[in-house]
Amino acid sequence: MHMQGPPLAARMAQATADIQAHIAQHVAPHTGDVAAAMVYACTGGKGLRGFLVLESARLHGIARADALPVAAAIEALHAYSLVHDDMPAMDNDDLRRGRPTVHRKWSEATALLTGDALQSLAFELIATAPLTAAARIALLAALAKGAGIAGMVGGQEMDIAAETAQSPLDLAQITALQRGKTGALLTWSASAGALMAEVDPAALIAYGDALGLAFQIVDDILDVTGDAALVGKALRKDAVAGKATFVSLLGLDGAKARAQDLLHTAEAALAPYGDTAITLRETAQFVITRQN
Ligand code: IPE
Ligand code: IPE
Ligand code: MG
Ligand code: MG
Ligand code: MG
Repeated sequence: MHMQGPPLAARMAQATADIQAHIAQHVAPHTGDVAAAMVYACTGGKGLRGFLVLESARLHGIARADALPVAAAIEALHAYSLVHDDMPAMDNDDLRRGRPTVHRKWSEATALLTGDALQSLAFELIATAPLTAAARIALLAALAKGAGIAGMVGGQEMDIAAETAQSPLDLAQITALQRGKTGALLTWSASAGALMAEVDPAALIAYGDALGLAFQIVDDILDVTGDAALVGKALRKDAVAGKATFVSLLGLDGAKARAQDLLHTAEAALAPYGDTAITLRETAQFVITRQN
């Protein structure tokens, strides 16, 4: 019998609480708007990326306390990406996680600086984590790549450019956009445990790649069909803004079918881990059935 433990939702909520406390503790010595907004921006999310870090670490026998700074790092980096994504020059959103966005609650200058500071905090947390120097460098190098022009920022640039493109993006282009803007950070999160343990991350990278694409497809589906009260952000915006999404290309049913295929790909990638990866399988199911 495999030990099941509490349901996935409870374990994710616990991870989120621990991660938020870790970030709050690092910001605590500082006062002022940027410090307050850093904590605010790291509160209220699902904590999926941090949870993936903790789970992939557990798979490789890394103590939870040693993995926690790394989990906090990716949630800080993700929060930075959202603070900037919501700003008027990008998606111009007033609501995030059911609350005013940082630039609405404070100011655009505060939002820019908050994002900048959260990104720096992410790299500081990894650089100072209680892991081997080789593990810290591997995590830092992979995150620097995944967060930058080859990953999140590159994908965000394609996302914004697609709004005013002359012709709609094709499947290969939308896939590249989503691999960048969303996939790269999720792949990093899923493979972090292998990097911490200094073992081959290939299986977890394959899992994370499929999970990341499925995750963004569901985000795009929720923009069309979701309940705004549950999702906590303004919906029905992508089509109006001319965003290139799997839904805009394949329609709702096509996008749902694609997410289902990716779930199977993600599950198959975990084969080398056998039963020990049950939580990562459950997490993949959660990603495609989630309502927020
Ligand atoms: C939202 O990510 C932004 C995307 C990459 C689609 P999440 O849906 O994980 O946001 P939170 O952290 O739970 O609020
Ligand atoms: C955001 O994608 C991706 C990043 C912040 C990197 P979206 O613009 O689709 O995310 P939401 O819908 O605002 O959460
Ligand atoms: Mg966006
Ligand atoms: Mg957005
Ligand atoms: Mg979206």
